[in-house]
Amino acid sequence: MFILTMKLLTTITVLSLVAQFLNAQDCLSRDFNNGGTVCVCNIDHCDTLKPIEKVEKSKFIKVTSNQAGLRFQTEVGQFEKQSLTAENVIEIGTEKYQEIFGFGGAFTDSTGINIKSVNEDLGNKILSAYFSDDGLEYNVGRVPIGGTDFSLKGYSYCDTPNDTPDPDLTNFELQPEDFEFKISMIHKALKLRNNKLDLFASAWIAPNWMKTIPGFSARNSYLKDDMYQPWAEYFIKFLDSYKQNNISFWGITTGNEPKTALGDNKIPSVAWYDDGMIKFIRENLGPALRNSAHSDINLLILDDQTNNLLDTAHQILLDEKVNELVNGIAIHWYEDSEDTPANLDTTHELHPNKFILATEACNGYKLNDVILGSWERGEMYAESILKDLNHWVVGWVDWNMALNLQGGPTFIANYVDAPILVNATAEEFYKQPMYYALAHFSKFIPKGSFRVKSSVINEVISTAVTRPDGATAVVILNKDDKDVSVTVRDAGRGDINVHLTKKSITSIVYW
Ligand SMILES: *[C@@H]1O[C@H](CO)[C@@H](O)[C@H](O)[C@H]1NC(C)=O
Ligand SMILES: *[C@@H]1O[C@H](CO)[C@@H](O)[C@H](O)[C@H]1NC(C)=O
Repeated sequence: MFILTMKLLTTITVLSLVAQFLNAQDCLSRDFNNGGTVCVCNIDHCDTLKPIEKVEKSKFIKVTSNQAGLRFQTEVGQFEKQSLTAENVIEIGTEKYQEIFGFGGAFTDSTGINIKSVNEDLGNKILSAYFSDDGLEYNVGRVPIGGTDFSLKGYSYCDTPNDTPDPDLTNFELQPEDFEFKISMIHKALKLRNNKLDLFASAWIAPNWMKTIPGFSARNSYLKDDMYQPWAEYFIKFLDSYKQNNISFWGITTGNEPKTALGDNKIPSVAWYDDGMIKFIRENLGPALRNSAHSDINLLILDDQTNNLLDTAHQILLDEKVNELVNGIAIHWYEDSEDTPANLDTTHELHPNKFILATEACNGYKLNDVILGSWERGEMYAESILKDLNHWVVGWVDWNMALNLQGGPTFIANYVDAPILVNATAEEFYKQPMYYALAHFSKFIPKGSFRVKSSVINEVISTAVTRPDGATAVVILNKDDKDVSVTVRDAGRGDINVHLTKKSITSIVYW
């Protein structure tokens, strides 16, 4: 016991000494031998991502993270004259495409539980890592309506003894989970962002008495025909209840993964056939929302995999009345394939006035594992965001913001990975490569930017935007196992010659 205490004290002393020699923005790197590194945050030190500061017109800023361990390394460079011999030229055009909405993560119960599993100051550092100007500067948050698979148990806001029907929702009330794990976190996040945080809500679990097959994780369990209106009122009551706690919403989805709920998995969601969903929006949810105190809220359909875009999402929007009530389409990445970019393009062509927002993604869902330091998983985030942005998607919202080392808690044992993992025993958390991958977008592409045309080259995947402050930002992913040189060419300005290290993500910005 004594030896153990001594050892612990020595470790703590060494860690605080190390922390003293680090600059605020330095990553306290740790290698778990999984093909990449994490940055360790403890009460003494947590690397910050400084806001990008404007440079004069002849210069640009270049920020790099890579598999070898660079994290958000910032350099200032000088434009050069256009070179006729330049190779791998990414030409920045002027033609504008979609307006960017933003980047964010989800306030799941598990996120709140993990933030509260450590010392409050350390927990605040997790929120700061996501929402502050020294962090990812997230401007979007997804809020589950009641429980999800990332809760300690399944629950709705209107569970009754013996599942006695309560269609008037007289028993509706927010749960302890809202107050302990969500509302307080959201208030802190709002403060960190000076209230510039767009929240949207999604429901997973309906009360058992509303459903054709009871059981929070029941497969193929639909709403009973006479429960459409109570379920719509349930959404409104949620918005009212959060409003009473000073939390307003920018949007709401028609419900998490209605098609995935038809498949062979345990995710607790309400299952929907398209005709049922059309009726629900047209006759129940749409009118209830538009006649409520939340009439201006954005209504998003689908909230499910991209392979449902051309059937389900398109079918729903073909209904004229529904089309008028709906603002956007929410997509998840889990079934993305080589067809996804074309499906996104077609969806945009068919419904150009409906925005497409990526509302959920995570790694580790196949093997139910966490991999500490996996560069590959960071790369997968970057590649998905780049491909989505290049095919009309307006923003990208991650799933759990903080999980434990097992990838939970999750009451259905659906363990997955997250950009921040908390080691409560050590009073530490680990920022994964996925966290920095997100930073390369969220800190460079503010809300109100527009994607602009940029040429496609084989060597790397890239995208470019023009920002509300007049700057141009370019994000480039080098997935290759070798270094590559590219030239970013802006006709009006000149060439930026960049050396991209192997397995790296680079963001460039110039004014
Ligand atoms: C909501 O905000 C008002 C006005 O700032 C304040 O008086 C009230 O205490 C807040 N309520 C909650 C639940 O935070
Ligand atoms: C978490 O912290 C404990 C206590 O310091 C330590 O024994 C364990 O190795 C840590 N886990 C990881 C994955 O770093």
